[in-house]
Amino acid sequence: MTDTLDIKIEKVDNTRLSVTDFSQLPFGKVFTDHMFTADFENGEWKNLQILPYGPIPMSPAISALHYGQAIFEGLKAYRQPDGKISVFRADKNFERFNKSAARMSMPTIPEEIFMQGLAALISIDEKWVPSQDDYALYVRPVMFATDPYLGVKASDTYKFALLTTPTGPYYSNALKVKIETEFTRADEGGVGFAKTAGNYARSLYPFEQAKKEGFDQLIWTDSVNHEFIEEAGTANLIFVINGKLVTPSVRSTVLDGVTRDTIIKLATADGIEVEERRVSVKEVIEGIENGSLTEAFAAGTAATVTHIGEIGYLGKNYKLTDPSTRKISNGIAKKLNNIRYGLATDEFGWNWIL
Ligand code: COI
Repeated sequence: MTDTLDIKIEKVDNTRLSVTDFSQLPFGKVFTDHMFTADFENGEWKNLQILPYGPIPMSPAISALHYGQAIFEGLKAYRQPDGKISVFRADKNFERFNKSAARMSMPTIPEEIFMQGLAALISIDEKWVPSQDDYALYVRPVMFATDPYLGVKASDTYKFALLTTPTGPYYSNALKVKIETEFTRADEGGVGFAKTAGNYARSLYPFEQAKKEGFDQLIWTDSVNHEFIEEAGTANLIFVINGKLVTPSVRSTVLDGVTRDTIIKLATADGIEVEERRVSVKEVIEGIENGSLTEAFAAGTAATVTHIGEIGYLGKNYKLTDPSTRKISNGIAKKLNNIRYGLATDEFGWNWIL
């Protein structure tokens, strides 16, 4: 990609690299030296800059804080065997970011700002891209409303930022998940498909309750009858039923996950049948009981492929197969990793080598 934008660059005096322990990288806690920011004012994006990572001064009246106009994304950059860095499917995250923006009455971000900002930031902080197995540089694009105004209306001004954080997988073990039958994450006509802050905020209370019961994560169900499985909030859900990959179809209440899409394409290319459709709770529970459901996993950029080890439903716990024996999901996870880390041919052209 040719650099066509004027990005002001202010570098740190001293990098924090030497005081960062790369063997201790909990998700989203350690940030690189720099960040990229841009401002939307008077109908245009301006002030493109890379500056030291740190606090952003703002009014306590900004509308993002009061009315939730805030969206984000998550994508990863991977260290390749030759030392170069590859960003995985950034085009998909860019597209989804702008879909979220449109739904939340926010301005879209031009592709060149998103992509050139990303490339410039990662290149400046390239030493922060980890090289350990399963580690990557997680990129968090975020946009929020900045009008210091308490009237309820779409803001006229916004800030866009790219933050980068070296990390391992979000989850370290197979998950014990609870099928939620009281609270809901999203409803038809709402904003469930958008990656907007409020979707995550409303999930926190039910998640805290489930944690007290010993669960690691929730499986959200539809808001009408809690009859159909939707997603996990931090990731999409994929099951193996009768040897086929079965995943809840994307709808207004389900995020169109990039990892989900990637896995569907990899499985299809491998001759594995994939069904994208409504998946009922009944089918999942009966599948575990009669042995037709052999594998289940969460799929997401942060989560990567995380096995589900146990499912709780209406007070009863259902144990799934030993994750180490799961041929289909382990096979797909390996294929996916090999492409991302440059260890296999990138047949789909997903890697953007910087
Ligand atoms: C991601 O996978 O990038 C996400 O945004 C999930 C996050 C909420 C942990």
